[in-house]
Amino acid sequence: MNTDPTFRYEQVAQLFSRKIDKGVLAPGARMPTVRAVSQQRGISASTVLQAYRKLRDRGVLVSRPRAGFFVGSPQVPGKPRAGNAIEVPASHRYEQLATLIVGMIDKGTFSAGMRLPSVRALSQEHGISISTVLQAYRWLEDRGVLVARPKSGFYVAATHGGALALPSRSRMRSRASTVSISGAVATLLEHASNSTLVPLGCAVPDPALLQSHRLDLALARAARQQGARYNVYGSPRGDLRLRSEISRRALRIGHALSPDDVVITCGCTEAVTLALTAVARPGDTIAVESPTYFGLLHTLEVLGLKALELPTDPTYGVNVDALAKLLETEPVAACMLSSSFSNPLGSLMPEAQKRELLALLARHAIPLIEDDVYGEIHFTRERPKPFIALDGGANTIYCSSFSKSLAPGYRIGWIVPGAFAQQVMDRKLAFSLCSPVLPQVALADFLASGAYDAHMRTLRRLLEDNLLRLTRTVEASFPAETRVSRPAGGFALWVELPKGFDSRALFDEALEDGICFAPGDVFSASRRFRNCLRLSAGSTWSERIDRGVRRLGALAGLQLSTQATGKRTLVNVSDLP
Ligand SMILES: Cc1ncc(COP(=O)(O)O)c(C=O)c1O
Repeated sequence: MNTDPTFRYEQVAQLFSRKIDKGVLAPGARMPTVRAVSQQRGISASTVLQAYRKLRDRGVLVSRPRAGFFVGSPQVPGKPRAGNAIEVPASHRYEQLATLIVGMIDKGTFSAGMRLPSVRALSQEHGISISTVLQAYRWLEDRGVLVARPKSGFYVAATHGGALALPSRSRMRSRASTVSISGAVATLLEHASNSTLVPLGCAVPDPALLQSHRLDLALARAARQQGARYNVYGSPRGDLRLRSEISRRALRIGHALSPDDVVITCGCTEAVTLALTAVARPGDTIAVESPTYFGLLHTLEVLGLKALELPTDPTYGVNVDALAKLLETEPVAACMLSSSFSNPLGSLMPEAQKRELLALLARHAIPLIEDDVYGEIHFTRERPKPFIALDGGANTIYCSSFSKSLAPGYRIGWIVPGAFAQQVMDRKLAFSLCSPVLPQVALADFLASGAYDAHMRTLRRLLEDNLLRLTRTVEASFPAETRVSRPAGGFALWVELPKGFDSRALFDEALEDGICFAPGDVFSASRRFRNCLRLSAGSTWSERIDRGVRRLGALAGLQLSTQATGKRTLVNVSDLP
C-alpha cells in the first residue's frame, strides 16, 4: 500500500478493492455513500469521491446517476453468459459493456491501436441495441480509452493499456526552491535545434506535419498585396481579425470571449511572462506541477520567483488535497498549471478535480495561470475544457499559442488576462509595444479560411500514431523495469528508469551517437528526476527515429547492467542496435 498521505484516495481505493476481491462487497452491491465513508473514516468527502472515481475508471465500480456507485460485474472475457447476451438492466447496459471492454483491454485481449468489432457486429453478437453499443464506445472515447476514426470504426487509444507500468507520482516538497536552470536549458535547446541529431529532444511538431506551405502562401499574399500597410506599429492588443478568430474558437471550449478579452503575445512564453509579472513580485512563490516544462522554470528564475513543486500524478495531474495542505503554511502568489496534456507528463486533470482546485484557489484568493498550448492536440472526441471555462475567468489567466499546432516560427500566442487586464497591458507595452503585424494578418486569413480545423483533425491522428509507435518501440527496447506515461494528447512521453539511473550520462552518450532527448532533471527546480527522460514524438516516424529509440533503450539497459555488475565490458557498444 502507498503510505504517502498525499495520495490517501489511492489507499481508500485499495481498501475497497480488497473488500470486493474478497467478496465482502458482491457484484451489483451498492457502495456505502461518500458521506458515510467520509464520516466513518474521518477523511474528506472529496478523497472518497476521488477513490470511487478511480475505481470506476478501472472498471471496478460503475456509477449510476442519482443512485451512487455499485460494484461492477466481473465478467470473464471469453466466457460470456448463456446465449452470449449481456444480462443487465437496460438503462445501464452501455456501462456494463464499457466495463467489459476496459477489462479486455487491461488483459491484453484488445491492445493499443487495435480495431474493435464494428458496432453492428457487437450488437448482433450480444443481442443488444446498436445505440447501446454506440453509447458504450462513445463513453470510452470521451475517457480517452478509444478513438473513433472517420469511416473506419473505433480503435483502442494509442497509449492505452501499454505493457509497461506508469511512472511514479512525484512526491511532496514542503519548501519552495529558488530556480537555477538556465545553463542546462540553454545547452538542451542548442542540441534540440540541431537538425543533424535524431529529433527526440524538441517538443515541437516537425514542419512537415504543419501546414507550413499554406501558411507561407497566406503570408506571401498579405506581404504582396498590403505589405506597406502592415509595416507599422500595430495595436498593442494585436490584430483585431486575429483576436476575433481566437475568440470565435473559444466557443469550442465552452467559454464566451470577445476580441477585447484577448491580447496577442510573442508565443505562450510572453503570455506566461506577462501573467507572472502581473501577479507576483521577485521573491514570491509560484506553485507548479512536478515535473514541469523547463521553459517555465527558466522564466521563474529570470523573474526571481521561487517554485513550489506539487505532487503530480502522471495521469491526473496535480494532487489537490496536497495543494490544500501546502496552502495552509506556504504563502503562494499564484499557481501555474497546464490546462491539458502537461509537458512532460501528458497528464490531464479530470474536470471535477479542476473544479475542486479552482474552488480551493478562490478560497485562498490565489490566481491560477493556465498554459493551454497542448489543448488542441487531444485524442479524445471532446477537447478537454481548460480552467477558464470552468470558473468563467473569475480567477484565471489563460495563456496559449499556435506553436504546437501550426506555426512555432510565427511566435504568435495570446493571453486572456481577465481581472489583471490593466497590469498585463502595461507590461505588454513596456516589454514589446506590440507583436509583428504581418504574421498576425496571415494567421487570421488562414484561420478564417477554415483550413485550421481540417489541419488539426489530421495532425491529431498523425501525432497519436507517432506516440503509439514511440511507446511500442520503448516497450520493445528499454529495460523491463522502465515505466512510461500514457498521455491522451500532446506528443511527449515521460520515461522513468529505476532510482540511481543517470539520464545525464545517457544524454552525453546519446549525443555522441547523434541522438538528442531531454534528460529528466531539467523539468524540476530542485533537479529531481535524474532517472527520467522525455522523448518527443513530434517528428514523422522513420527508420532513423526507430533506430535511435532502440539504441537509447540498449544504452539504458547497458547502464543499468553496468551499475548492477560493476562491469561494462560485457557488451560491445558497437554491437548494440
Ligand atoms: C508547456 C509549454 N508551454 C509553453 C511553451 C512555449 O510556447 P511558445 O513557443 O508558444 O512560446 C512550450 C514549448 O515547449 C511548452 O511545452
